[in-house]
Amino acid sequence: MYRERRERLLTEMGPGAAVLPAAPVAIRNNDVEHEYRQDSDLFYLTGFEEPESVLVLTNRHKEHRAVLFCRTRDPSREVWDGPRLGVDRAVEALGVDAAFPIEELPDKLPDYLADVDRLHYRLGRDRAFDATMLDALNAVRGRARTGVRPPTEIVDPVKTLHEMRLRKRPEEIEGMRRAAAVTREAHVRAMRVAKPGCYEYEVEAEILRTFRAHGSPRPAYGTIVGSGPNATVLHHRRNDRRMEDGDLVLIDAGCELGYLASDITRTFPVGGRFTSEQRALYDVVLAAQRAAIDSVRPGVSLDAVHEVAVRLLSEGLVDLGLVSGSVDEVVSETKYKPFYMHRTSHWLGMDVHDVGAYHLSAEPRPLEAGFVLTVEPGLYVAVDADVDPKWRGIGIRIEDDVVVTADGHENLTSDTPKDPDEIERLLADR
Ligand code: GLY
Ligand code: MN
Ligand code: MN
Repeated sequence: MYRERRERLLTEMGPGAAVLPAAPVAIRNNDVEHEYRQDSDLFYLTGFEEPESVLVLTNRHKEHRAVLFCRTRDPSREVWDGPRLGVDRAVEALGVDAAFPIEELPDKLPDYLADVDRLHYRLGRDRAFDATMLDALNAVRGRARTGVRPPTEIVDPVKTLHEMRLRKRPEEIEGMRRAAAVTREAHVRAMRVAKPGCYEYEVEAEILRTFRAHGSPRPAYGTIVGSGPNATVLHHRRNDRRMEDGDLVLIDAGCELGYLASDITRTFPVGGRFTSEQRALYDVVLAAQRAAIDSVRPGVSLDAVHEVAVRLLSEGLVDLGLVSGSVDEVVSETKYKPFYMHRTSHWLGMDVHDVGAYHLSAEPRPLEAGFVLTVEPGLYVAVDADVDPKWRGIGIRIEDDVVVTADGHENLTSDTPKDPDEIERLLADR
């Protein structure tokens, strides 16, 4: 699979070379490192998880189309950190054409950039590696008088590699389905434990426990458990509030499994029953979410999906008296914005906010089969919002992961409860 992806990229690139470095190791504090996760681009093309490695792909070299630079074996380090693949085994294990010690990169990289017109490299992501890259470029430029042509263009992989990543193959959809199933279970378990008197972090712990228990190495992003007014804070991460009867709790959590993300949000009443105001707003968000999901099909743009959600949310805000004016006015003058300030969708894949262009030559791009997106409308009434006090402090978001199919869409997370009556029944059974 990785070799096939490299071949596709090489074909896509045409005459040129791509350089893909591993994610840098990040220090957490003093001598403790953050948990390491490989760069998604490099993993996509190799399945290789070690830091201090670089993949070079080139159409310019006769034998070496895929070259890996990686760490050499080192028994004294491996005692501490576990086994390394090493240079000798890399060719066979990863199917690359050649492998060299990472220390040889500065010497060898210029050779692979000679007579390459177009260099595919994500400039600006890793400044330390940018410097290595510039040194290599200057080294090739230094050879110009000997007849060597240095690269004249540096292009972002968004045009090639990220287009490939945006179009998911069936095996990737299958992987995302597995991640979604684990995340579904975590949300259902969260509904069982999130009772009045329980702290948000206890719910977070149950979610992370469920992820790990199914072999997920990590969440795909920081878990949000926002109860009561915390549900109106979009990036609430402290998760340290004691939940009360009468609160809603908004849980935005998704596991990563096999380097694929899931991203689900559910909102439910901690005490088991929605108040009438909570239920009224919930029904608006749910109707907007269902309509937005229904609109997903090839040819439609994310902007159009967003507009479906915005219209229904605006209708609800007008009906319930939170915003005054006609629905058209609320939409065109963006009067819904104090209550709905984010977009409805993002691409989902190896990264929770996955790669791939959202616009093509300034136009919103039409969806294609194989794209995966979230649909996540919400309504957030701040504690000091200028509305009838009965609405204040209510925050609701409902988020599913949707695959575009040839004739419409498939909701990968549809079996995570979101019907309010079903949720109340489930909570009554705790
Ligand atoms: N959890 C991140 C997002 O929903 O975009
Ligand atoms: Mn989310
Ligand atoms: Mn999301």
